[in-house]
Amino acid sequence: MPYYRVVGEVPRKRHVQFRRPDGGLYAEELMGEEGFSSDSSLLYHRHLPTAIIKAEAVEPVDAAVLAPNLPLSPRHFRTQDLPDGGDLVTGRALLAGNADVRLSYAATEAPSGLYRNSMGDECVYIASGRVVFESTYGTLEAGEGDYVVVPTGTIHRWVPRGRVTALAIEAAGHIRPPKRYLSKYGQFLEHAPYCERDLRAPSEPLIEEGEEVPVLVRTRGGLTRLVYRNHPFDVVGWDGCLYPYAFNINDFEPIVKGIHAPPPVHQTFEGPNFVICSFCPRPLDFHPEAVPIPYNHHNVDSDELMFYAGGDYTARRGSGIDVGSISLHPAGFTHGPQPGAVEAVLEAVRQGHTRTSELAVMVDTFRPLDLGPAALSVEDPAYAWTWSR
Ligand SMILES: [Fe+2]
Repeated sequence: MPYYRVVGEVPRKRHVQFRRPDGGLYAEELMGEEGFSSDSSLLYHRHLPTAIIKAEAVEPVDAAVLAPNLPLSPRHFRTQDLPDGGDLVTGRALLAGNADVRLSYAATEAPSGLYRNSMGDECVYIASGRVVFESTYGTLEAGEGDYVVVPTGTIHRWVPRGRVTALAIEAAGHIRPPKRYLSKYGQFLEHAPYCERDLRAPSEPLIEEGEEVPVLVRTRGGLTRLVYRNHPFDVVGWDGCLYPYAFNINDFEPIVKGIHAPPPVHQTFEGPNFVICSFCPRPLDFHPEAVPIPYNHHNVDSDELMFYAGGDYTARRGSGIDVGSISLHPAGFTHGPQPGAVEAVLEAVRQGHTRTSELAVMVDTFRPLDLGPAALSVEDPAYAWTWSR
């Protein structure tokens, strides 16, 4: 994805002999998207990245069956009530999903094993706590508010520093900054709400010794444990435009208008048939006659899933929504502010209120989201009727 980067040692030209201090050859590996036609990186391994010694099928830990959102209904799920457990890979409680994307929640202190998701990119939003992301590309420190974008096929593991909560967004494809933010050659344009300087990526190689190292591999067919002859963290250098990176939601520079701006101004990433938006603290709409909260709306082609990550939700006061809550407003249903919220915010503005402190991550999907058992286990059944109170 974002821009060219070089870490550690690489030879002066690609695909030439590159020798270890003992005279042997490093093993070159290309990680590339879309069949040699999109972004890629070249990694230089001490050992063969192809050397596996065992393959075993693994029972899926998340074989949870998704159910259609029937009867069609707006939903409120309280992730804050889900139990801790597992790790940031195996402890994902499946909330919702479709053929394009799966959304899960995890709360844990336990480190994960090595993992490779070969079905698509992942964007893991760290809602609280701190975690070290370790990978063949190197290490990333991540904390509250970080989106960690993990390219398809990256071997990695998560090592929390204390308790971590996270929303995992697993795509069936690639997650990238919106095209409209980029020049035709890929540089962030001036109107983009973030740019290259806001992205953090590994800066030095991560080398680990080890033999017979298991890696959990996720494919469309299921889960496999591949045992590598040598530890996959053996890359002395890499370069290219494909690598994991972190972006903190607080580095998103909100775009504010005189009158209310719709969610596309908050867009942060795009995936196959879905978008990810960041709602950040910002000045309220400033036209003297503005109604500075959303109008009732019906996105006829989208299901809107909103994870409330922090701050105060003026538009939702009285609905039971709190930090950690997830709302799902599906196509087929018109949603909007809670009754009385417009009058309340106009009164607050009259009294000098000029900012909103809301912090939320929204995933809008262009195909309906089915519901996971974890979500249904923490559903607030009264939510659907809160606009009628
Ligand atoms: Fe909405």
